[in-house]
Amino acid sequence: MSTPEDLNVGIVGAVGRGRSFAEALRANGARIHAVCDIQQEKLDEAARKLGADQQYTDYDCMLEQSDLDAVVIGTPMPLHVPQSIRALEEGLHVLSEVPAGISVEECRELVLACRRSEALYMMAENYIYTRPNIFVRELARAGLFGEVYYAEGEYLHELKELNEITRWRRKWQTGIDGITYPTHSLGPILTWMPGDRVVRVCCEGGGRHYTDPRGELYHQESPVMLCKTARGALIKIRVDMISDRPHCMNCYQLQGVDGVYESSRGGPGDRHKIWLRELSEEPRWFALAEVIAEDGLGGRHMPESWLNPPEEALRAGHGGGDYFEIADFVASVRGEIECPIGIHEAMDMTLPGLISQESIRQDGRWLPVPDSREWTGGLPYSQLQMVWPEERLDTPPEPELPAGYELRQYRPEDRTAYLELVQKAGFEDFDEKRLNNMLRTVLPDGFFVVEQRDSGRVVATAMAVHAPQNIHPHGGELGWVAGDPDHSGRRLGMAVCAAVVRRFIRAGYRRIYLQTDDYRLPAIKTYLRLGFQPFHYREDMEERWRAVCEKLDWERQ
Ligand SMILES: NC(=O)c1ccc[n+]([C@@H]2O[C@H](COP(=O)([O-])OP(=O)(O)OC[C@H]3O[C@@H](n4cnc5c(N)ncnc54)[C@H](O)[C@@H]3O)[C@@H](O)[C@H]2O)c1
Repeated sequence: MSTPEDLNVGIVGAVGRGRSFAEALRANGARIHAVCDIQQEKLDEAARKLGADQQYTDYDCMLEQSDLDAVVIGTPMPLHVPQSIRALEEGLHVLSEVPAGISVEECRELVLACRRSEALYMMAENYIYTRPNIFVRELARAGLFGEVYYAEGEYLHELKELNEITRWRRKWQTGIDGITYPTHSLGPILTWMPGDRVVRVCCEGGGRHYTDPRGELYHQESPVMLCKTARGALIKIRVDMISDRPHCMNCYQLQGVDGVYESSRGGPGDRHKIWLRELSEEPRWFALAEVIAEDGLGGRHMPESWLNPPEEALRAGHGGGDYFEIADFVASVRGEIECPIGIHEAMDMTLPGLISQESIRQDGRWLPVPDSREWTGGLPYSQLQMVWPEERLDTPPEPELPAGYELRQYRPEDRTAYLELVQKAGFEDFDEKRLNNMLRTVLPDGFFVVEQRDSGRVVATAMAVHAPQNIHPHGGELGWVAGDPDHSGRRLGMAVCAAVVRRFIRAGYRRIYLQTDDYRLPAIKTYLRLGFQPFHYREDMEERWRAVCEKLDWERQ
């Protein structure tokens, strides 16, 4: 891949966030060659202001027709992964807005796309670049905090009004329980713990207290995620984009054996403060600004970029972060530095938040966070699989439902309720297109839903899908099992799964299988109880199933 001096960049989402990168791109020698946005009426103005030669309303057209070296992706969250993968496939370098993705599954796709592509991927986490955060990073790297074992990160940014302007936020940032927007709080902390990563998380929220203008409740306010790192440190992350309170965008704390840092919470007279054993043997606060200004520590540890920042950096948004992330992106593309927030750093900052969403669904259970570096090994990642034992083909399970619920076939008029249910159950990127694809392979009378009689709500579902694989010739897959968390504990999932197994057996299938993820523990327990057995089809399965059964306290046969 060439690394041209004059980097031709295309910005997608150029009418929104994308436009804020323009000055920094130019200052770092990149050329905004094309802009893209679906808001055609505002595109002329964006192109003029950003000095772009070309404009597009279709992203694919921009990639195919424009002579680009790189794209900057400033579109809503669900577009980050698909647009990044498309660009990487075209060999274009990518700077993607945060977070990297909206589901573990699509993050895995992104990691694999990065492996296949020679182009560079960087995530645009700007808060790691602010002056105080860079200084703390350098002190931590120099060992001045000693061993670091505790940190806190908070993102307290009330944006209920912004939800109504940028409507995608209402679902992706304030519609799903858990930490939906983790990177601004977790990202800087991870740079203060070099070489470490989050290995497990748990999450709970503070309940629902606010409604949007349509009277719909937002997700649980002030979710808090606890993270354990590989080296045993504890990190607390709180993200709140709903609660009414004085603004305090980001605050951080870091504790090591030889020092502590606490950023300002924005209150009257509050300042960033620090104590280091190096400054005084007796613990007492020093103002961070004074320590930075001090010849000794500031001069020795503040990098040149922030000692003598360019004018553009001082003007840039997010405490200068919007400038320095672009500077690093351009320098990475040119091969001058190693990319500081490459795909695995991006995953380290993004995946804990996604797993926290599963944790809160499972009442705050500690769950493992996958390591994206393992998705790059010899074996590509594969889901766990389970099979229905052949000796039980003659004794299919009986679907049993509690009073007030009815098992029936899916009907076309269930479409909206069905999509809502599947998304609420944790398959956030399941959309209409995917449903249409599934409908092509589902067996007749093989698409089950459970309806609550009084409310008419669709509260559980599963389907019998004709899905032969090499390892399952003529195989049928129990697919898309989902249950409404508000109706959990009533074994509705068990009932729909039993119905699917019976349907396959009636149709003459002898191989019935399912695929799932290691962290979907309640679902796996349901499958085990019903009679499905782990299917060890690869060498890593033995160990993965051992870990799953241990967590479920399930005796393995
Ligand atoms: N790093 C930060 O500090 C920071 C700050 C704000 C937003 N963000 C992130 O930036 C992204 C955009 O946020 P925003 O506030 O600018 O949202 P926005 O809705 O104001 O802007 C998104 C833009 O993308 C355009 N768009 C939507 N779909 C498109 C498509 N298919 N093709 C081309 N353009 C399309 C929209 O028309 C809009 O102009 C989000 O992912 C958000 O999380 C990050």
